Amino acid sequence: MTKYITTPIYYVNDIPHIGHAYTTILVDMFKKYQELKGNSCILLTGTDEHGQKIENSAKMKNKSPQEYADSISFKFRSLWDSFNISYDYFIRTTDSYHNIGVKKAFEVMFSNGDIYKDYYEGNYCVSCETFFTKRQLLDNLLCPDCGKETTALREESYFFRLSKYQDKLLEWYKQDVIFPLHKKNEVIRFVESGLSDLSITRSTFKWGIELPKSINDNKHIIYVWLDALLSYITPLGFGNNKENKMKLFDDATHFVGKDILRFHAVYWPAFLFSLNLPLPKKIYAHGWWLIDGAKMSKSVGNVVNPKEIADTYGLETMRYFLISEVSFGQDGDFSIKALTKRANSELSDKLGNLLNRLLGMSEKYFNFNIESSDFSLFENEIDNVNNIINSLDSYMENMMPNKYLEELWSIFDIANITITKHSPWEMIKNNKKDVSSLLVFIANILAKGALMVYPILPQSSIKIMESLGINESFYKDIIKESKMIKKFTLTKIPPLFPKLEVKEEQLNKTKEIKDKQVKEEVNLRQFDKLDIRIGKILSAKKVKDSTKLLVFSIDFGEFGVRQIVSGIANFYKESDLVGINVCAIINLKPSKIRGIISEGMLLTAEDSDGNLELLRLNIKHGSKVC
Ligand code: MSP
Repeated sequence: MTKYITTPIYYVNDIPHIGHAYTTILVDMFKKYQELKGNSCILLTGTDEHGQKIENSAKMKNKSPQEYADSISFKFRSLWDSFNISYDYFIRTTDSYHNIGVKKAFEVMFSNGDIYKDYYEGNYCVSCETFFTKRQLLDNLLCPDCGKETTALREESYFFRLSKYQDKLLEWYKQDVIFPLHKKNEVIRFVESGLSDLSITRSTFKWGIELPKSINDNKHIIYVWLDALLSYITPLGFGNNKENKMKLFDDATHFVGKDILRFHAVYWPAFLFSLNLPLPKKIYAHGWWLIDGAKMSKSVGNVVNPKEIADTYGLETMRYFLISEVSFGQDGDFSIKALTKRANSELSDKLGNLLNRLLGMSEKYFNFNIESSDFSLFENEIDNVNNIINSLDSYMENMMPNKYLEELWSIFDIANITITKHSPWEMIKNNKKDVSSLLVFIANILAKGALMVYPILPQSSIKIMESLGINESFYKDIIKESKMIKKFTLTKIPPLFPKLEVKEEQLNKTKEIKDKQVKEEVNLRQFDKLDIRIGKILSAKKVKDSTKLLVFSIDFGEFGVRQIVSGIANFYKESDLVGINVCAIINLKPSKIRGIISEGMLLTAEDSDGNLELLRLNIKHGSKVC
């Protein structure tokens, strides 16, 4: 049976970031793994284009919502094309067949009594496109999911009888559908705490799908989440004549971020119950990519552009990093340092280097033709490798792709250790036959490795296979049946993973990002430990041999006169500073700067263009800043 897998469909309020790329790459990896095993798999992705958030973003750019959606949707699609994502469907919720399908779904739900009209009163978060009751809000106003301000709404609305499906949902959760387990338990607790009916129309803005004609009410448009979730079935032909592929939905798997699990694990199955359609077989909820522990956000300026990363460090490196760095379901910290470290130690030093060693020795000793049918020297190693290869399926099927890679990499370790153990450069002097066996053994490890790494590193996998003279048809023999290939004619290829350096401009960016982030929270007691005082500058002199440093003598009243060194010489003339009152921390541990003792730190402010000013206050020296 064909598996049907989906990414969420992405909002077009802004261009794609690394979080979007992560979901898409995960799903692409899953599809490629199924195909490697010989299973067929259909992948849907697309863009979510209606709703208040998009209408607002378009307004800000002085574009019509459709124009704006067209341009951003195109960016998503082009990005996935440039990343060679094997999607089969790219849905846009502004596609006409989708519009027809959504109206049809509304009609079906209405006619079976699951939709009724009432008043909605509560708060709405435009950023999450989600309704909240007052009880759910933080500080009576803020969205509990994203922390942004919500808007109070009172409007006529159509409601979906979500409460009616509470028991059916709880029953459904008994099947193992939601992964990871702790997320499933969160969903169960949410549903057990009681479901309210869901508002599924809006009437205070226009950018959305109108109600079906049969309802005869043109004041409302359909709530963006009902519209968006239906995008998983309208491209298969639901409610329209696009295709007749609804059978695919019998084996559907959704991949989503943890933030949108509730929509997929509560609202979506309830809609499907109402439409009398099968429910998804699996819902996988992944974690979030953070930057230095904080959420990516445009206002903070720490949004990571996946195209930039792929262009600078390589698409395959980025795929490898995203999949190996975190366990599925956990949050991860995205950093260029961690990415280059992993790429260098795992891709270059282990995999790339192993292929180089094989090619180098095969060329030198055998002119690229290696052959052997006697592997008795490596029996134990071969057993170990086969056991590892056989264990991989369970890691991928249980959504532990990082563990899959970790285990797979241990076969490259076995290969590298075996080479060192037998020192072929010595052995070749009197035992050419065993060297040939060793190289054929190593080539087999690389052949198995190349096949199994295909879902994560598709291009490198193909290059390694081409260099070994094999292709994916070897899967049956060397993976399923654990056989050994006895003869290789190798072809030299350029190094697969040249060592990476952290690019300076990326690091500067990271520093900039850090500067733009709010630092870790401290409590009042911690803050109170700092003694910040007003001091009157008595003298200021340049530090010898330094262009930046000035040494000050500063009078802090009853706290005495202190010597402080500060790097502000580029911003002030010494003589302009004498006599002014400044702020300084006076209980910092004294330190030596260029051999001069500094007994405190002057406080300054710096803007993003690098302009700097001393904090100056017209209040008596010795006063405390608090
Ligand atoms: N349009 C809805 C989904 C509708 S599906 C019927 C939506 N779009 S989104 O563009 O905001 O998010 C799409 C996906 O990207 C979500 O799964 C979300 O979890 C994921 N990510 C957004 N930021 C992320 C990170 N920083 N890290 C990892 N993934 C994150 O929600």
